[in-house]
Amino acid sequence: MPELKNDRLLRALLRKPVDVTPVWIMRQAGRYLPEYRATRERAGNFLALCTTPELACEVTLQPVRRFDLDAAIVFSDILTIPAAMGLGLYFAEGEGPRFERPLHGEADIAALRVPDPENELRYVMDTIRLARRELAGRIPLIGFAGSPWTLATYMVEGGSTRDFARVKALMYREPAVLQKLLMTLGEAITDYLNAQISAGAQALMIFDTWGGVLTPRDYVRFSVDPMARIVAGLQREAEGRRVPVILFSRNAGASLEALAGSGCDAIGVDWTVDLAEARRRVGEHVALQGNMDPTVLYAPAQRVREEVAAVLVSYGRGSGHVFNLGHGIAPDVDPDHVAVVVDAVHEESRKYHR
Ligand code: CP3
Repeated sequence: MPELKNDRLLRALLRKPVDVTPVWIMRQAGRYLPEYRATRERAGNFLALCTTPELACEVTLQPVRRFDLDAAIVFSDILTIPAAMGLGLYFAEGEGPRFERPLHGEADIAALRVPDPENELRYVMDTIRLARRELAGRIPLIGFAGSPWTLATYMVEGGSTRDFARVKALMYREPAVLQKLLMTLGEAITDYLNAQISAGAQALMIFDTWGGVLTPRDYVRFSVDPMARIVAGLQREAEGRRVPVILFSRNAGASLEALAGSGCDAIGVDWTVDLAEARRRVGEHVALQGNMDPTVLYAPAQRVREEVAAVLVSYGRGSGHVFNLGHGIAPDVDPDHVAVVVDAVHEESRKYHR
């Protein structure tokens, strides 16, 4: 494997000194890029794109060719695991993800099998191996998975939901059955992420998109604790380097300490959290990733630059910050505004690292 030329991301995640703040963007490969839409068209649909390593590798690299990003993230989805468990994932146009066979109760949950990552999920490992080869050590490659709780919401609800009625009903009526599901998912995710490290992922992120819909007490029990068990099961060293782990819970600003105490290296925060306050609360223990409001990208370029500067000011001096949005980029954003963000982060942050 060639030497890593730009290791800012890995250094910042471990709170080691950097020259400028590293930046990457959640959903940086996606529909806002015309070249993504063209490749998706070639694939036929989103799932075919994910499961064809040559094309998934191509879209992984597209944003990296356009922008001076400090990391690539493997193109895939958090729902690959439930798909590999046989739930029948499909995307209904305009509706988001759906499952043909959602989990109805104890018997369905007891019947779940942990997939073999190099078998049912081999396409993800192949995409990682291809992308590493193509990146040739330019920037690190991030691997990822969904959190047990977030995957459980989709698997029990059968798709996206507004009120989380089914999965919360399960939580309050049969907590042991939900725990069994979270344990099985935890095992599957641990195997999957370790396989991603072996395939070449140099940092890992766990997306807990729906952690923030729980009460602070339930959040610890059903979202943080299962993630902490995964973190404890990860092989944290590869190619002579530490593989940093980022945990991102959306809307969980009230519980940053719980998340930061999970054993991870960094936590992702959304824009409802003030970075200065987050740093005061947990900055001694973990690096912070985030947290510009994604809708800032609709503003004129000068306004975008001001918001980048404001996020950098709020973190302040020194390492331990990875610039990102507080959630994924929207499909109707002008790609030129992403260039404005990336360049502004590098230009404006230099003074915080002297
Ligand atoms: O960040 C990246 O560039 C890597 C790729 C990535 C995708 N999904 C590609 C994708 C990542 C990291 C994800 C994670 C993911 N997937 C999450 C967690 C992060 C978050 O957004 O909160 C969740 C909840 C999912 C599940 C999922 N996949 C949903 C809800 C949707 C529909 C969203 C929509 O806007 O239609 C997807 C599909 C999806 N995953 C797309 C992309 C680029 C859009 C598919 C398309 O139509 O081309």
